[in-house]
Amino acid sequence: MQDTTALRPDVPSPPMYGDGTGQPLRRLADLPGPRALPLLGNLHQFDFKRLHRTMEQWARKHGPVFRVKFPTGAFLVVADPDLVGKVLRERPDTFRRPTVLSAVAAELGAMPGLFDSEGAAWRDQRRMVMQAFAPHAVKSYFPSLVQVARRLQRRWENAAATGQAIDLGGDLRLYSVDIVAGLAFGTDVNTIENGDNVIQRNLDAILPGVARRTLMPFPYWRYVKLPADRRLERGIAVLRDAVTDLVKQAKQRMLLDPARAVNPPNMLEAMLAAAAQGGSGVTEAEVAGNVTTMLLAGEDTTSNSLAWLIWLLYRHPDALRRAQDEVLRCAPSLDALTLEQVDRLDFLEACTQESMRLKPAAPFITAEALEGTVVGDVAIEKGTIVLCLMRDTSPDNTRFENAAQFDPGRWLQDSVNRKASMPFGAGPRICPGRYLALLEIKVAMAMLLARFDIASVATAHGGEPDEQVAFVMAPETLHMRLRVREERCGSGTDRLDRQ
Ligand code: HEM
Repeated sequence: MQDTTALRPDVPSPPMYGDGTGQPLRRLADLPGPRALPLLGNLHQFDFKRLHRTMEQWARKHGPVFRVKFPTGAFLVVADPDLVGKVLRERPDTFRRPTVLSAVAAELGAMPGLFDSEGAAWRDQRRMVMQAFAPHAVKSYFPSLVQVARRLQRRWENAAATGQAIDLGGDLRLYSVDIVAGLAFGTDVNTIENGDNVIQRNLDAILPGVARRTLMPFPYWRYVKLPADRRLERGIAVLRDAVTDLVKQAKQRMLLDPARAVNPPNMLEAMLAAAAQGGSGVTEAEVAGNVTTMLLAGEDTTSNSLAWLIWLLYRHPDALRRAQDEVLRCAPSLDALTLEQVDRLDFLEACTQESMRLKPAAPFITAEALEGTVVGDVAIEKGTIVLCLMRDTSPDNTRFENAAQFDPGRWLQDSVNRKASMPFGAGPRICPGRYLALLEIKVAMAMLLARFDIASVATAHGGEPDEQVAFVMAPETLHMRLRVREERCGSGTDRLDRQ
């Protein structure tokens, strides 16, 4: 593993110029932080699945800017949303994603995609991907999205009829994979009805495995492979073969029907058409890399955001009732659902914002300084890792009134501090899938609230779900029980669904 965090002795000291306050700048070594052991630093205090929690506790204790030590060096932790936004906006020129991420991916033989590309390659890919995710492109995909929601509805109707508990996270992952696969490759993988497929099965091992390796201070897997490493390497190889196959099939379709290159019906074919044209700067390997990236970036993020939202609504009956009333008033039937109806679900959208504020899919985003620079009043050297905490840790409710409360109504007030919550990141690398993700969430919720009453959502121990981070912050396993809403029984839904 590359040493990305070290303050290397061969790098010159940062300039000690002022930041406009006339005060000398602080350096990493001047910052407060948790007490560290000589060689280990703070490593012994990390539980990697709960790393965000530890960092948030330290932010409350040491303030919004502090340092943490790793055996490989020290890194800067920033919890102030203004500073976080500044760091994220200064990509790709002053900051990049940590080198260790692309190094781990390259060592695994993963094909690079938008998430782990930098510089000119990132710019070219970003332009191409943004076209595929433009609101009009996502809108044209709306009917397919509703079809996937119908399949989930049928699955949940069966569970309700037989009194079965639904594995919430598992079912929502099937939903999000089917949607991304349909939009990105034009492939109806239908994992909801056919069970998980080879892609779905192997996706689950990849993000946690990569996240683990990026955090390890020593590349032990080069000497000893643990079961998790074998799962990760197998997952990458299987996914690479599956994606290569998808690309081959798409090329064949385009060869047989050249009109597809002019008006590509999905993202994969649009990327292949762009790569073939030349001048796009995008290679065929990058096309394959982005197919994998979309699957990885679009699955767990959306499904876990939905799971957290359902959990929070269940725990807040007033908000749940209001969201359900809104759905029954504005979007009462999945069969007749239109984009205009979805756009009218303002309270549901507010619930989603509020849920992502309290339970962001990415509770931290890391960046690496490409040059010596200044963050707030701290001068950092090239190569320093900045860990940006994405959840509000201010102790005094300055950014959000009653910050710990689930209060969706705050998002309907003009006065809400929108910039202090960044569930999709910020700046040039902000999530390109955010419009699709919000649409996916609203369609699933409209289906759920129009067709069912939520009887229960619970962990095995009956308490609050633990937050588990493996790249994405997931709740521990939640089981949901549903009742079909009386007034909708025998409606035309079943008939239409089966056509
Ligand atoms: C609720 C669902 C989602 C959440 C909360 C989410 C969140 C994020 C966040 C926090 C980032 C990092 C942004 C940054 O560094 O500033 C990101 C990046 C990204 N997301 Fe999402 N995401 C979601 C859904 C999706 C979907 C559905 C897709 C595509 C199908 C997607 C594709 C990507 C890609 C490709 C990147 C990398 C962008 C780049 O580096 O330029 N995401 N997402």
